[in-house]
Amino acid sequence: MSGFLSGKVVAITGSGGGIGRAVALAAAAEGARIVVADIGVSLDGGDPQSQVAEAVVAEIEAAGGEAVAVAESVTTLAGGEKIIGAGVEKWGRIDGVVAVAGILRERMLFNMAEDEWDAVIETHLKGHFTVFRAASAIMRKQEGGGSLVAFTSGAFAGSVAQANYASAKGGIVSLVRSAAAGLHRYGITANAVAPVARTRMSANVPMDLAEMGDPEDVAPLVVYLLSDKAKHVTGQVYTSVGPKIAVWNQPREVRAVYAEGRWTPEQIAARLDSTVGQERMPLLDQLEAYRKAAEEKAAAEKGTAEKGTAR
Ligand SMILES: NC(=O)c1ccc[n+]([C@@H]2O[C@H](COP(=O)([O-])OP(=O)(O)OC[C@H]3O[C@@H](n4cnc5c(N)ncnc54)[C@H](O)[C@@H]3O)[C@@H](O)[C@H]2O)c1
Repeated sequence: MSGFLSGKVVAITGSGGGIGRAVALAAAAEGARIVVADIGVSLDGGDPQSQVAEAVVAEIEAAGGEAVAVAESVTTLAGGEKIIGAGVEKWGRIDGVVAVAGILRERMLFNMAEDEWDAVIETHLKGHFTVFRAASAIMRKQEGGGSLVAFTSGAFAGSVAQANYASAKGGIVSLVRSAAAGLHRYGITANAVAPVARTRMSANVPMDLAEMGDPEDVAPLVVYLLSDKAKHVTGQVYTSVGPKIAVWNQPREVRAVYAEGRWTPEQIAARLDSTVGQERMPLLDQLEAYRKAAEEKAAAEKGTAEKGTAR
């Protein structure tokens, strides 16, 4: 422990388990006082149990740290205000917010129910807004500003059976960029982490992930983003998996073509492919590779089974 976050007050949503818990323990070990906010729900958001937040507070206290538990959902502004308010009430300020709370409701787009869409958008996207809004209102008036750390996912680039989750995670990236732009002048930074780590959530992913790590691998990047050493870092999206940290690009126009006057659909049909063209989705290539690998595996297994029968 190097006291990287000495004196800071940090609220961490979803810190009763998984990556949030690892972040809470690491930030507390670096001297931060922690609001552990979690309602202890199942992976799909049901069956809440307030004890998970209290259990993490007990772990932090046993290690000599300071923490307070809040069993409030991030899905309402009132909940967000209570989470941030708990830190302000106890320690007089709020220096950092890490929004880790999340759920999954996987379904193909054409089968997705309205409540599956709403619950995921509310927990992830609105769940970032509620705590960022409550915290930034205080941070902008306090000395030293503050740090907002969001949790997105590589799925923001697209997902086969998680249109709700991918949309929320894309929205979170835009929220972070907006917060970075709007709050810069108040000394508040906003960044997003796209993790991959062994938790109950990743156990649910239907395909093999090429890269994998543990929640404890993600925590140091979050601690850094919360610290005074990262005051110059804002508007960024970082992947964190095992030993790897990667930075994502900023969206930009890559090519342009101009009409003489206004375009007609016919002119676009004739000229678009050969001028601006498309930017191929890497995900489509990955899916194609998965499909080929699955076919080859099935063919190999069939061959082995036939050899076995012939014997
Ligand atoms: N694990 C991965 O590989 C992975 C990959 C990409 C993105 N992520 C993102 O990282 C974050 C953490 O994921 P995880 O794997 O630790 O998940 P997890 O399921 O282990 O933990 C999520 C926590 O959020 C809490 N929570 C859910 N809804 C809540 C609500 N309304 N209010 C308060 N707390 C609530 C849960 O009780 C749980 O403790 C999520 O935002 C997730 O989307 C994880």
